[in-house]
Amino acid sequence: MAILVTGGAGFIGSHTCVELLNAGYEVVVLDNLSNASEISLDRIKELTGKDLKFYKTDIRDREGLEKIFTSESIDSVIHFAGLKAVGESVEKPWEYYENNISGSLILFDVMRKHGVKNIIFSSSSTVYGTPEEVPVTEQTPKGTCTNPYGWTKWMLEQILSDMQKADNEWNVILLRYFNPIGAHKSGRMGEDPNGIPNNLMPYITQVAVGKLPRLGVFGDDYDTPDGTGVRDYIHVVDLADGHVKALSQIKKNCGLKIYNLGTGKGYSVLEIVKNFEEATGVNIPYDIKPRRAGDIAANYADASLAKEELGWEAKYGIKEMCEDSWRWQKNNPNGYSE
Ligand code: NAD
Ligand code: UFG
Repeated sequence: MAILVTGGAGFIGSHTCVELLNAGYEVVVLDNLSNASEISLDRIKELTGKDLKFYKTDIRDREGLEKIFTSESIDSVIHFAGLKAVGESVEKPWEYYENNISGSLILFDVMRKHGVKNIIFSSSSTVYGTPEEVPVTEQTPKGTCTNPYGWTKWMLEQILSDMQKADNEWNVILLRYFNPIGAHKSGRMGEDPNGIPNNLMPYITQVAVGKLPRLGVFGDDYDTPDGTGVRDYIHVVDLADGHVKALSQIKKNCGLKIYNLGTGKGYSVLEIVKNFEEATGVNIPYDIKPRRAGDIAANYADASLAKEELGWEAKYGIKEMCEDSWRWQKNNPNGYSE
């Protein structure tokens, strides 16, 4: 029995495929390569010494999905596929709702028609909106999202929860990721953003490698210890391991479960810059800029439920996250495209 990994060629998906193969799972990847390179799949094979099946398919392509579910023995689905650029989602809301929501609805429908009712879904801490208190637990109420991307996560959580409630053959695990950074230790796999990065760590590594001149720090007047935004950064390999642990939970017929995947520790933007400089010896020049629209002051996880129920906790600290992000960027200044 195989695990279908939608979006498996992307940043988190590719690292998860490595951990799944290392744990002995058979892996089938589906990706339309809209934000990924097929080279990541070669790297997965290189790093694990194992093979996987790849279908270049879109989750909105019902016939393509039918073909996969007919040809392969799929046991569970890990659903990463989706568009994820916050700013772009504000410019192109229809495209985000259509890709993420319509695509997922088609995927869920084909799954149930084939009797595959186990799913792990990539959600996000963005569903908490602007939390009144940090750290957030899974009991913290969902909030108001500041962009269409966030709403797609919010709504897909609701859709999967309602489907599970109506049909308890479904096992649904919603994983709320905090801020994934880092890369595989080998320096062969990592994040490969299109154009100028929106997120902090890829921006820093591109400044470090000389592709961008200076970092802009978005706001230093937040109600945080140094005034810059605080987030819970988590190593992508720890995140990948969280999916392997979640699969064991799915096999126990867990029904609906929700877990925060974070380290439980918040770092400010300036602390990340300092940690990066210390870990790599590379100086990151920066300027303080106005706040970025839609940003919140602080968000970090209470991840104790994942520890209690999945036996999962983050192993890597900020030093390794910085070192590994940097190794990947330094060895692959242009990501997967050489
Ligand atoms: P990514 O863009 O690297 O990976 C997503 C993959 O999905 C890409 O390979 C892309 O080609 C593919 N894809 C997109 N639309 C598709 C479609 N219609 N059909 C088939 N494939 C499609 O992003 P990532 O950082 O690896 O994120 C993976 C998942 O985790 C996403 O759902 C994302 O929203 C979620 N997430 C990411 C973060 C983050 O900060 N990276 C945080 C929280 C949640
Ligand atoms: N930041 C800067 N300069 C930059 C980029 C970011 O100062 O060039 C700051 C932001 O203002 C924020 C922090 O760095 O305080 C982190 O910003 P990111 O863009 O890296 O991450 P966000 O927390 O804003 O959001 C990310 C994803 C969301 C996801 C969320 C939680 O973009 O999609 O993490 O997983 F929902």
